[in-house]
Amino acid sequence: MTALEAVSDRPATTGASHDEALARDVVEGLTSRPKRLAAKYHYDALGSQLFEAICELPWYPITRGESALLRRESAAILGRLDDPATLVELGGGNGEKLAILAAGLAEQGRAATVHLIDISETALARASRTVAGYPSVAVRGHCAPYADGLRAAVGELPPDRAAMVLFLGSNIGNLAPDEADRFLAAIGAALRPGDSLLLGTDLVKPEEDLLLAYDDPLGVTAAFNRNLLVRLNRELDADFDIEQFTHRVVWNARESCVESYLVSRAEQTVCIPAAGCCVRFAAGETIWTESSYKYRADAVVDMAARAGFAYGAQWIEPDAAFALTLLDAP
Ligand code: TRP
Repeated sequence: MTALEAVSDRPATTGASHDEALARDVVEGLTSRPKRLAAKYHYDALGSQLFEAICELPWYPITRGESALLRRESAAILGRLDDPATLVELGGGNGEKLAILAAGLAEQGRAATVHLIDISETALARASRTVAGYPSVAVRGHCAPYADGLRAAVGELPPDRAAMVLFLGSNIGNLAPDEADRFLAAIGAALRPGDSLLLGTDLVKPEEDLLLAYDDPLGVTAAFNRNLLVRLNRELDADFDIEQFTHRVVWNARESCVESYLVSRAEQTVCIPAAGCCVRFAAGETIWTESSYKYRADAVVDMAARAGFAYGAQWIEPDAAFALTLLDAP
């Protein structure tokens, strides 16, 4: 097993179709106690669009704060890139943030190759289109989970040029602390001396702000979370009554994370033929769908140091309470 494979808790899905992997993960998650569903399954076509809508919400500061930082510090970040530049972005979504750096490179007349790794076909297509607007920037898309995609991208890196991995949007915050440690160590092991990692992390802020960010008054985040069940109805022929599940978020101060759940409003049984099971829910029973960890700025540096990364720079956007940390590969 490589270091990157070790990051995944489940057996490799090689050979299984996406649907089989989904069915297996759903059975495993919904027969566990407490019940859970993997957050990566939020990002079907509709889910990806709903997530883009979340990023536009006045209550969700992550995307705006990070974009502001990238614009403000673009010269410093671009100054760390080789010529031609090589970027590898993990889970970059619609490519809007990457476009900030691509625009900067284009302005400086610099060529670049960008590897995009995303679980969402929709996001990959959108990001590729966005970056295609900069002809000096070549794009390679890898539709895969992080570990698989990173392995593929690293295999294609030119040996004589340093690469910068972008892991933005506080995506790392969706990994539990031990998973985050293992994931950073795996990225560190995959990179070469001279390579770097630009890590975006959402910082701890007042509880009411965090709860609004994950349970907005327009109900967009609720729709995003509940769409997971719409997807299971469509792709696994499940019979979830969407009205019978609500979105709930909790701030877990001890763990420093916002936990998102789907809550069963009543006692009910849901059948999922393509996964070969029926699942009973008690009234009020929860399905955990995601935790979003929030950090202190110095804790980000400590976490990266545990994985062997050296401090390069850190920039903070105070309004959004968001940090970008540049780290040198071990
Ligand atoms: N993973 C992102 C985050 O933690 C996206 C997200 C926003 C999300 N709201 C959510 C995921 C609610 C699951 C449930 O910020």
